[in-house]
Amino acid sequence: MSPTSDTAVPLLQATGIQKRFGRVVALREGNLSLAHNEVHAIVGDNGAGKSTLIKIISGVFRPDGGALRLDGEPVTILNPREARQLGIETVYQDLALADHLDAAANLFLGRELYRRPPLSWFGFLDKRAMRERAEEEMRRLKIGIQSVEEPVISLSGGQRQAVAVARAIAWGTRIVIMDEPTAALGVRESGMVLELITEVKRQGLAVVMISHNLPEVFMVADRITVLRLGRTITTLRRDETTLEEVVGMMTGAVSVAA
Ligand SMILES: Nc1ncnc2c1ncn2[C@@H]1O[C@H](COP(=O)(O)OP(=O)(O)OP(=O)(O)O)[C@@H](O)[C@H]1O
Ligand SMILES: [Mg+2]
Repeated sequence: MSPTSDTAVPLLQATGIQKRFGRVVALREGNLSLAHNEVHAIVGDNGAGKSTLIKIISGVFRPDGGALRLDGEPVTILNPREARQLGIETVYQDLALADHLDAAANLFLGRELYRRPPLSWFGFLDKRAMRERAEEEMRRLKIGIQSVEEPVISLSGGQRQAVAVARAIAWGTRIVIMDEPTAALGVRESGMVLELITEVKRQGLAVVMISHNLPEVFMVADRITVLRLGRTITTLRRDETTLEEVVGMMTGAVSVAA
């Protein structure tokens, strides 16, 4: 596998994606080209269509038009399970952690490990294996939580976010998508999540993150795609743009150079 051919074909390409909800047009033309091993931010005002676009990639919504390609091959993603099977994991803003379960159980939610037969026939879970794997995963990602056996409801916002991100990274083999991963977090906790995003990239995956926090975007993203009123306006390299230019594109004050 040559690295040059890897980078030539985008890992994921969404072209001309359209989505309507009744009379509301959420996406008129959503385009996104995600390269291998990059952190790609999607920015735009409220209602620009950011969450709709990523929900189409993660199989939550079916698009009304447009095409998706994964590693150059056309794909149809019918539901979140199919997205996960393709190696696409998503951390939604509401996280979807099971509060009363511990971090280990949350990491394996829907993918529980069972003990060997015949115990597995009666639904006996292999809790030890799950705990060990969870501890290993937390260590690998440098997530500092005291015990993976505490109910996650007792964790801080940042730690909960970290558990949700860890779950996505543990299973995501290609792409980790995060919708506003730091929106509800304090400065220190946000820092922890940003570190995790960088760590995901170090591990060879690609990250799509939606954020309203442009300074954070400029800290971690390699490229930035701007959406406005349901359209992808442009994609900019972080090192070739400025925060002011991005704000201008988001609001329409700056138009795209020809
Ligand atoms: N399930 C839905 N049913 C009806 N309308 C929807 C639905 N989801 C999104 N919309 C509408 O589609 C448009 C785009 O919404 P979307 O959530 O994608 O925006 P966003 O860019 O993520 O905004 P925000 O920054 O506020 O999260 C909005 O007008 C929204 O009201
Ligand atoms: Mg949104």
